[in-house]
Amino acid sequence: MNPLPLFKLEDYLSQWEFKAPHLLCCSDAQTVSMKELLLMADPEGKNLWDNLHLNYTEVKGLPALRDEIASLYSELKADDIQMFAGAEEGIYCTMRAMLSPEDHVIALVPAYQSLVDLPRAIGAEVTTIALKAEHNWKLDMDLFAKAFRPNTKLVVINFPHNPTGTILDKSSLKTMIDLCRKSGAYLFSDEVYRLMELDEKDRLPSIADLYEKGLSLSVMSKAFGMAGLRIGWIACRDRKMLAKIAEYKHYASICNSAPSEILALIALRAKDKILSRVHQIMRSNIQMLDAFFATHADLLRWVRPLGGCIGFPELLAKEPVDRFCQRLVEKKGVLLMPATIYDTPGNFFRIGFGRANMPQALDKLSEFIKEEYR
Ligand SMILES: Cc1ncc(COP(=O)(O)O)c(C=O)c1O
Repeated sequence: MNPLPLFKLEDYLSQWEFKAPHLLCCSDAQTVSMKELLLMADPEGKNLWDNLHLNYTEVKGLPALRDEIASLYSELKADDIQMFAGAEEGIYCTMRAMLSPEDHVIALVPAYQSLVDLPRAIGAEVTTIALKAEHNWKLDMDLFAKAFRPNTKLVVINFPHNPTGTILDKSSLKTMIDLCRKSGAYLFSDEVYRLMELDEKDRLPSIADLYEKGLSLSVMSKAFGMAGLRIGWIACRDRKMLAKIAEYKHYASICNSAPSEILALIALRAKDKILSRVHQIMRSNIQMLDAFFATHADLLRWVRPLGGCIGFPELLAKEPVDRFCQRLVEKKGVLLMPATIYDTPGNFFRIGFGRANMPQALDKLSEFIKEEYR
């Protein structure tokens, strides 16, 4: 394995996330307090919480939690689920377990960096397919189909997509699965923004339900707003592959945090309430963003996202977008994320709309634009 490059996005967030007063690029939705969450607990969840002992936990994950997670899918059982410390550990263990330098990988860019750079660090050859703003960030399925090679071991996708918020259409997903099946490739689907579609009709089925070699990555961090739990999982019907991936967890977190497992169980059992609150916030915020971008159409180009709580608009001014973001955070304390963090050409930046305090951050951005550009 080659040395890993700096993870630009996580490094950027580690510099600013707890310093900038107005976070306007967050990809995780509004969180809840412990007090609020425990009030949502059913009697079994409350009992598990009150009587919890802080030992090591099962490597695969708490059986009751995996049962609850399996019910989110149509074809899966608890044994098709392997828990991880967040989604990131799931990505790391999967790439390490699955790939070697002889393998070829197809991935989309821009991307959450580890989805592309881990395969590269392992020495696998990676063909990236760029999503383009001029095509409304839609995947070019012809380019995708042409990327397959005899040694294509893994295809990596992420819908709803970070950072553009685009979602593949259902018929392209079917074509993609047919292509993977024909070539024998596994399909790793990063579904961490699933359940955050602005229109439920755009929600894709989980890959693990559709494809016997599909791996669905999910997490409590995004739609549930509970990144601090560090609870993620991979769902996959190929149990041998799942067990191989889990072997890498012994070298990472070993097992999940015991309190986090119970809190995740409580949250999943209260999912309707939690998700409905998050969707209310997203709907109200995106209307505000629509109006904001309409007002500033000469300066900013908005391709409305379909899902997740992030979008990737373009700054049309001559100023390079990282300088714009730097000046904004220094002058107004508002944090956006420039495209340079994704190694993506163009003056794009990531904006987030899943948090209840987004309107205040947007007001500050409006002030900045008025003072600097009007
Ligand atoms: C597409 C994608 N995958 C995985 C992750 C990692 O998620 P977690 O922080 O829950 O480990 C992120 C985080 O931003 C992400 O955007």
